[in-house]
Amino acid sequence: MRIEQMKLEQRDGELLDQVVSYAKDYLKELEKLQVYPDEKSLNQLEVFDEELQAEGTKAQTVLEMLQNYGKDATVNHGGGKYFGFVMGGNLPVSQYARVLADIWDQNAGLYLSSPIAGKLEEVCERWLVSLLGLPEHTAASFVSGSSMANFYALLTARNEVLRRQGYDVVQQGLYHTKPIRVVLGEEAHSSIIKALVLAGFGKESMEFVPVDDQGRMRADQVPELDENTVLILQAGHVNTGAFDPFDELCDKARKAGAWIHIDGAFGLWAATSKTRKNLTKGIEKADSWTVDAHKTLNIPYDSGIAFCRNRESLVRTMQASGSYIQFSEHRDGMLYGVEMSRRARGIELWAALKYLGRDGVAKLIDTLCEQASYLANRLKAMGLLVENEVVYNQVIVRRETEEETQQLLKAIQDSCEIWCGGAIHQGRKVIRFSVCSWQMTREALDQSVACISKLL
Ligand SMILES: Cc1ncc(COP(=O)(O)O)c(C=O)c1O
Repeated sequence: MRIEQMKLEQRDGELLDQVVSYAKDYLKELEKLQVYPDEKSLNQLEVFDEELQAEGTKAQTVLEMLQNYGKDATVNHGGGKYFGFVMGGNLPVSQYARVLADIWDQNAGLYLSSPIAGKLEEVCERWLVSLLGLPEHTAASFVSGSSMANFYALLTARNEVLRRQGYDVVQQGLYHTKPIRVVLGEEAHSSIIKALVLAGFGKESMEFVPVDDQGRMRADQVPELDENTVLILQAGHVNTGAFDPFDELCDKARKAGAWIHIDGAFGLWAATSKTRKNLTKGIEKADSWTVDAHKTLNIPYDSGIAFCRNRESLVRTMQASGSYIQFSEHRDGMLYGVEMSRRARGIELWAALKYLGRDGVAKLIDTLCEQASYLANRLKAMGLLVENEVVYNQVIVRRETEEETQQLLKAIQDSCEIWCGGAIHQGRKVIRFSVCSWQMTREALDQSVACISKLL
């Protein structure tokens, strides 16, 4: 061990200066950097294909390798021209708060292991519940993303539906329970299916409800619900951005005693917006919700949140114990989730919320939606066919033929100047644009449109 060396590296600041200088260069160049690495940059990655040597490497050299060979193989989400998947952007204050928190090296498992992490998670829970208009006392679990948040919520749903029937999953396990029904839209996000399968539901227990041409669940097609059912709804369809009719469906499900989960990975934020709030009417009647801060809220990755109306249900499901564990009177993160040790995710989340305030969050969402409409109009004017109702931040387009659409998609991806993904919508190939970052300014959108025009 090079203890003296490491002490020096930690304290004299030279290494940190090296990183800060690399970071500053990267951030300064963001708008000019290519959006996707070119072939040369990808080929350079071969330098990492070495055997692990017996001798270590100087810290400066390790960082230099990342700068010289890693940086050019990054995907640049920060220049406002990356429209792939639903990725989000980065609010500087949140990103830097995270850097600070990483340097603090906090473990958010217990209040005892990080009072600041415990305090800020408690504050974020309260602020978010109020911001999203969820029922008072709703509990939050700070997880890695919406896939995990869906998993947490559905584990809780499963245990609670069975508990209400007199069955304690924590004590008795699952082997002798009767199957729970799951009712979900035909176009529910794939992370929901994954979460359900991991939670032991099995594909045969899933009852898929037909959807309309935007992927919204058709209320008139929902089967009879009962207290042995989990109904899964969606705020923000991954391609069209559409929202299920929550108000009507939640009333029906509540009356029947079913558990309602809403996957709102990027769409739940509409509840904070002045112009899009109507899309989320009725969400407060659900039992659990999923949202990502690393998408629409523009927090660095590794920030999803599972909400549960009934705090006890979540805590009972996630039960935590151990004679060496010291719980406190404050918020102990591990009571709300699977992980014991984890990053203090609440710190960068708090920083973003504190920075934006209520109005700032609303403005961020409203702006993303306006930019999406603007982009859709520009693409339409160029002769592309806009295939969705642009109600939120997603735009999907195609050309006349499948072949032309595929050619344009390939040209976009090969250009390295902008990046879009593809999908199938209503049986046809489409090109997806997710307007999900504050960096997608009019200027960035105009440059992207000019690039597409050139490729066409
Ligand atoms: C509706 C929906 N749910 C869940 C997810 C999964 O989120 P994550 O990538 O944070 O795991 C996504 C991702 O785009 C999504 O759109």
